[in-house]
Amino acid sequence: MSVWHRIGRLNDIPQQGARVVKTEAYGEIAIFRTLKDEIHALANTCPHKKGPLAQGIVHGAKVTCPLHNWTFDLSTGGTVGPDEGCAGHFPTKMEGDELFLKLEPTS
Ligand code: FES
Repeated sequence: MSVWHRIGRLNDIPQQGARVVKTEAYGEIAIFRTLKDEIHALANTCPHKKGPLAQGIVHGAKVTCPLHNWTFDLSTGGTVGPDEGCAGHFPTKMEGDELFLKLEPTS
């Protein structure tokens, strides 16, 4: 059975920012908030050389890794452009201003 875990409120995360949720099963998960107040969750470990994606630059619905500029689609975790890879992506939902995360990677 899948379970939604409450992980805080929308305003806990700055627009175009991220915060990190620590999990036992999947390590650190980066929760991103876009300028349009969309919430996305990716593993906080870049598949290139383990850069901390939560410290990346959020632009549109993408994040660019702070170490070597690989860019990921926040809605899938897949890379954008010439780089090939995928950061683990997790489902999120918002009820009112409360945020929920499901620990079931979709990629
Ligand atoms: S560690 Fe992320 S692009 Fe290299």
